[in-house]
Amino acid sequence: MAKFNVYDCTMIELDKHHSDRRGNLSVVQNGDTIPFDVKRIYYLYDVPGGESRGAHAHRELSQLIVAVSGAFRVTLDDGNVKRSFFLNHPYQGLYVKPGIWRDLDDFSSGAVCMVLASEVYQVEDYIRDYDEFLEFRKIQNKEK
Ligand code: TYD
Repeated sequence: MAKFNVYDCTMIELDKHHSDRRGNLSVVQNGDTIPFDVKRIYYLYDVPGGESRGAHAHRELSQLIVAVSGAFRVTLDDGNVKRSFFLNHPYQGLYVKPGIWRDLDDFSSGAVCMVLASEVYQVEDYIRDYDEFLEFRKIQNKEK
């Protein structure tokens, strides 16, 4: 399994079809916009102000995180470096590679966080304990 750091995670500009009169449309398409096929979509909404979400890493899963409405912050952590992204445009997506810890906070009122995921839901893919995450990163280092 390749080991990624926070600088491997980037904002992707989505294909956008903006018109003055009829409003806007953005597209994410398999084999085109992102380097994985989407197997699952979920979204967070009605997150109360001051709440945070995430607080986990995935062993294998890749994700594209989109603020389809409103705004929030995503802080990525590779066990070494932390990097924060403020998502507030529906035509951008944050591409998060496997093995990266993420925290989401600072949700605006009405924010909707849509996540496009490379795998179906698998509880074993989650690391929810930060110390376990650091251990996982160390093991990955040794395998390198
Ligand atoms: P959780 O992982 O805690 O959300 P977040 O990390 O974004 O704060 O998920 C909340 C609940 O939803 C938890 O009981 C697991 C469930 N869930 C699914 O059943 N399927 C899914 O695809 C996801 C993402 C969560």
